[in-house]
Amino acid sequence: MSEQVVTRYKVSERANHWVTAISFILLAASGLALFHPAFFFMNNLLGGGTWSRILHPFIGVVMVVSFFIFATQLWSQNKITAADREWQKHLGDILCNKATQLPEIGKYNIGQKYLFWILVITIALLLVSGVVMWQPWFTPIFPIVLVRLASLVHAIAGFIAILAIIVHIYSAYWVKGSVRGMTRGTVTAAWAKHHHPGWYKDISKGNR
Ligand code: HEM
Repeated sequence: MSEQVVTRYKVSERANHWVTAISFILLAASGLALFHPAFFFMNNLLGGGTWSRILHPFIGVVMVVSFFIFATQLWSQNKITAADREWQKHLGDILCNKATQLPEIGKYNIGQKYLFWILVITIALLLVSGVVMWQPWFTPIFPIVLVRLASLVHAIAGFIAILAIIVHIYSAYWVKGSVRGMTRGTVTAAWAKHHHPGWYKDISKGNR
């Protein structure tokens, strides 16, 4: 008997997610290589030091465009609601398996929503600071103090984004059955009922 499945992501959402993910990995590797000699070997991914320096900002533009299109597609579903705040209040009880009568989780849980907003903020900061640091095109327009500040902001935002993505990839692997949502576009009805019951009820009524 074939398993009942429901659609979680459209083709356009999956395409944007994977363009963002591949460019993020190339950016994290080349960015770390530009940041510290201990990571210099990662330059090899883009064909050596010179190529990393040339390509890093252009790949950054690709990631920013694909990420913000993707973020726009998921924006309304990531708004933090009163139900999410209720969940947050009972986090200790949930971890000790003591919580009862909590509101049903919608398309995303509070952790996923925080990840979403952390990425929106850090990627916006990476874009603005990256443009200020982009030699030889834009840097000469800005005072040196701003360029120095931009390098600091870029390093801190990059570090936070990399940590957030490590947690994201681990969670995607940890919650069995999630990755197929982002590869094939569908999840099993059992997965949806178990992890996102509020969303499952909504789609069963014909809302997305
Ligand atoms: C190999 C790397 C990655 C894997 C395996 C992965 C996997 C996934 C999976 C399975 C989902 C669906 C979760 C669900 O439907 O509940 C998802 C959603 C998402 N991913 Fe990734 N991802 C990766 C990299 C990235 C990167 C680099 C970014 C952004 C820079 C990103 C941003 C997102 C966002 C924003 C969502 C939607 C979650 C939300 O809106 O709260 N992912 N990812």
